[in-house]
Amino acid sequence: EKIGHGQASGKIILMGEHSVVYGEPAIAFPFQETYISTKVEPDSTMILECHYFSGELSQVPSQLKSVSEVIDQTLIALHHEEATLKITITSTIPAERGMGSSAAVAVSIVRALFDYFDIPCTSESLLPLVNRAEKIAHGNPSGIDAAATTGDEPLFFIKSHPLESFPMNVSNAFLIVADTGIKGQTRAAVRDVAHLFELDKKRISQHITTLGHLTKSAKHAILADEVDTLGNVMNQAQEHLSALTVSNEQLDHLVSTARANGALGAKLTGGGRGGCMIALAGSKKQAENIAVALESAGAVATWIQSLGVKN
Ligand code: MEV
Repeated sequence: EKIGHGQASGKIILMGEHSVVYGEPAIAFPFQETYISTKVEPDSTMILECHYFSGELSQVPSQLKSVSEVIDQTLIALHHEEATLKITITSTIPAERGMGSSAAVAVSIVRALFDYFDIPCTSESLLPLVNRAEKIAHGNPSGIDAAATTGDEPLFFIKSHPLESFPMNVSNAFLIVADTGIKGQTRAAVRDVAHLFELDKKRISQHITTLGHLTKSAKHAILADEVDTLGNVMNQAQEHLSALTVSNEQLDHLVSTARANGALGAKLTGGGRGGCMIALAGSKKQAENIAVALESAGAVATWIQSLGVKN
């Protein structure tokens, strides 16, 4: 019996969330600690099995509309609209925590369906299908989640530009990722920033432009292997993200805990209003201490990732 498999990792945005929607650059990388897998096998009707739902694809609740859309669109692209399949999704990416789980779900589904029909899945066929699903999930996505989860390399991402990968090989830099345990609200946060922008273009566009400058400074700091500067730039970005109303009390609390425990910088990551924060440490030992402090301060999970090949 035929079986198709597809996988995709989560992503971490180091710098540039929200401002990336307005054409400013962002830095993101795949987060290999977490991933989503999809299995496709034949069945008598279209069936979806995942953490939230088990049953006929035509009966999925509205939160899973982007999932049914990506399945339908991929089958159309593959000229197999009549297929009846069982699609099983398993995930170690916490959902709605700013780790790009919705994009990763879509990527793993497209890959699994292509694999099932033995068709090579190129990024030219993958990205449009995933971006379409992301539009349903997020309203006005920049495309960064889709791009970051499809590749294996860090990205310097600008909306609607060709993908540019980016060597993230600073020495002695570790990133701690901490989950607030609260669902992020990317869609609402993106919509509210757009609303603020309409109300006060001058002030909001200043924050957005500054976030863009800070992302460029972060890129220079990484290329020059200046970890302290990178931390400083992350701290500044958090101030501007707060001004855009996308942080919240729990994120602020974890950010100040990380700083008080020696982090070189700390900020929210992804859509905000919950979800995850990141902190930068200059050694593995320091990263472990910060992770322990963050868990005592209420983080429900923490991960540590080296930021460089030299570590
Ligand atoms: C979400 O992971 C990142 C945001 O910048 C939204 C987007 O770029 O689509 C908040």
